[in-house]
Amino acid sequence: MQANHAPAAGSQAGEPRLFQPARIGCIDIANRVVMAPLTRSRADEAAGDVPGSDMNVEYYRQRSGAGLIISEGTQVSPLGKGYMATPGIYSDAQVDGWRRITHAVHEAGSKILAQIWHVGRITHPDLTGGAQPIAPSAIAPRDVVAYTHGGKVEIPLPQAMSTQQIAEVVGQFRHAAANALRAGFDGVEIHGANGYLIDQFLRDGANRRDDAYGGSVAARCRFALEIVDAVVAEIGAARVGIRLSPLTPFNDLADSNPQLTFDHLVEQLDRRGIAFVHFIEGATGGSRDIPGFDYARARKSFRGTYIANNGYDRSMAIDAVESGRADAVAFGRAFIANPDLVQRLRSGAALNTPNPQTFYTPGPVGYTDYPSLDDQAVAAC
Ligand code: PHB
Repeated sequence: MQANHAPAAGSQAGEPRLFQPARIGCIDIANRVVMAPLTRSRADEAAGDVPGSDMNVEYYRQRSGAGLIISEGTQVSPLGKGYMATPGIYSDAQVDGWRRITHAVHEAGSKILAQIWHVGRITHPDLTGGAQPIAPSAIAPRDVVAYTHGGKVEIPLPQAMSTQQIAEVVGQFRHAAANALRAGFDGVEIHGANGYLIDQFLRDGANRRDDAYGGSVAARCRFALEIVDAVVAEIGAARVGIRLSPLTPFNDLADSNPQLTFDHLVEQLDRRGIAFVHFIEGATGGSRDIPGFDYARARKSFRGTYIANNGYDRSMAIDAVESGRADAVAFGRAFIANPDLVQRLRSGAALNTPNPQTFYTPGPVGYTDYPSLDDQAVAAC
């Protein structure tokens, strides 16, 4: 299931491998540039966290030059929501909305996965319909705030999940995966990164449980693997991947021995034959130079596709795929500001600069109005 390393038919001779087709699990992609999952907070909250407005469709359609698009994080239940206006994937209206997006992306020649997400303790009752956040243990994150319609608020102490609640959330991920296929997605990425619920179980900074889901490395990995098993049972391993961030301090999470924890997890993921692992190398959106985890070793011990992410520029991405250190490279911020990122990377054109002020604001500004090279050529004449 390794991505195809031979130059594919139809690719231009001499073109870097980054721009050549590959296969991830059972999904054929036109190039190895991946659009990373990006929270944009532009779903219809009043309608029940429903995506698929004309503006949402246009945003994804514009970015369909990516070989593969991974959707913004989409919550598997109302309690899995941690930010304003993020879309869900548990209701029929949400599935119908997503179907408009996946259809547009497929029409434009790309592939799209749903990133299925539960935030765990990184939320506030104002975002979850009044419910108290849940987590492996009753430990609040320090110095993390939630943004609600009332403004910035302190994150409260979460409730430690019962084993019944754990089983319920596993079922929600399974249901989300089934819904993803109903909505026309090519598969799913399980969000196991960035200090959200799955990561809260994996890393011992948030997991002090003394039952089957905490303590040893194997026990801390159990929740993630139960979700993987449930999702694989629903849609097949060839359509499933997971995003991981062993070292990121984002959302106040850390592990006492990331190498040990994630070695075990990757070995177990490999046994299950899932399509890909997607690593945030270093601190999310920040430094890549944090000691404590060997990504090359993870890449070697996993037979599926390795998607690399975090701070890659054109030459780093070309080198990573050329050298075999990664099969594909995911870009986040660069895709916010450059709808035609692949075309720009191919030609070496300059990139637009993203504006963080409009990452999470409603409306088209900073969302669908970044110019493509074609728009810029028209503007110049
Ligand atoms: C964010 O909205 O800042 C965010 C959401 C999900 C992530 C990372 C960051 O995984």
